[in-house]
Formats: sequence, C-alpha cells, structure tokens
Amino acid sequence: MIIKFITNSADKTQLLANKLASALEKGDVLTLDGDLGAGKTTFVQGLGRGLGIKGNINSPTFNILKCYFNGKLPLYHIDAYRLEDHVNTDIGLEEVIEGDGIAVIEWPKFIQEMIFEPLEVSIKIVSEKEREISFQSDYIKYQRVFDRLKEIKDEL
Ligand SMILES: Nc1ncnc2c1ncn2[C@@H]1O[C@H](COP(=O)(O)OP(=O)(O)OP(=O)(O)O)[C@@H](O)[C@H]1O
Ligand SMILES: [Mg+2]
Repeated sequence: MIIKFITNSADKTQLLANKLASALEKGDVLTLDGDLGAGKTTFVQGLGRGLGIKGNINSPTFNILKCYFNGKLPLYHIDAYRLEDHVNTDIGLEEVIEGDGIAVIEWPKFIQEMIFEPLEVSIKIVSEKEREISFQSDYIKYQRVFDRLKEIKDEL
C-alpha cells in the first residue's frame, strides 16, 4: 500500500498528520525518513496535536526518546540520529516500540533491528515550501490508516 501527498506549507503538513492521528492505535509504529529540515519533527508536532497532546513537541535530538502521556494515547518520539555509532542503545526503546502507545521514529535506519512492522513515512523536499509525503506499508494492520489517508486526500 502506498499513498502520496504534496503539502505547500508546514501548517499543511501538520494538518495532514493531525488528521491522521485519529486512525492510529496502540502499538502502531511510524518511521520517518527525510533529509535534514524535510519536516519530520513538524509532522510529529501535528500528530501530537491530533492526539490531544498539550504543550510543545520539539526535536528530541539530544534526548533520543521523548514521551508524551497527556494525550489520547502515549506518544513516543524517538530520534535515533545519535545512535549511528551504536552507543548506548540500551535505553528501553524496545519497550516503547509496539508498546502501549504510538512510536514515531526519526532516522530509523540506526535502530532497524528493533523495528518489525512499520508504517513508513517519507518526506522529500520539493521546493522551499513544498514537501512530498509518502506513506507506505506492507502490513495489513495499517489498512485502516490508508483508508483514513484516502479520506484526508479529499479534505485537504
Ligand atoms: N510543506 C512543509 N512541510 C513541513 N515543513 C515545511 C514545509 N515547508 C517549509 N517547511 C519548513 O521546513 C522545516 C522542517 O523542519 P523540521 O525540524 O520539521 O525537519 P526535520 O526533518 O525534523 O529535520 P532534522 O532532520 O534536522 O530533525 C521547518 O522550518 C518548516 O517550517
Ligand atoms: Mg527533526
């Protein structure tokens, strides 16, 4: 399954993610690929809003894992960038991936061995304000997410 969007502002990317949140369930794992500044964290901010999380969601680059518990479901925001050299991967990531909430993972390639059935989100920079956001998964459990994405196509 694959579906693609083009957004023309950070707000639109957040709105897309915000709307998507209603289709997410406990244990879902979203991987986020894209160059520096593509909009991965921006996407997670929209997702957080959609889950009803209050307060600021920022890049966890210096934390690796940030947890938000004040929304509809726990949100675990992982940025694996600093795990490139495989130092200190023993920080409980296994517990939050396919855990009691939603895990979103920036730079998943650095913790590939911990990720089993992801919904892959890839963000490409088209121009200063445009991003191509594609959603892809081989796992039937994400059919509900693709159904929702088809609705969002008509709403955006
Ligand atoms: N259509 C768009 N969607 C998302 N972000 C956009 C868009 N147009 C412009 N931007 C800008 O691009 C930047 C994206 O930054 P963001 O921190 O989300 O990227 P990132 O992929 O998380 O980067 P990093 O790899 O450094 O963590 C923001 O400044 C945002 O305002
Ligand atoms: Mg980021």
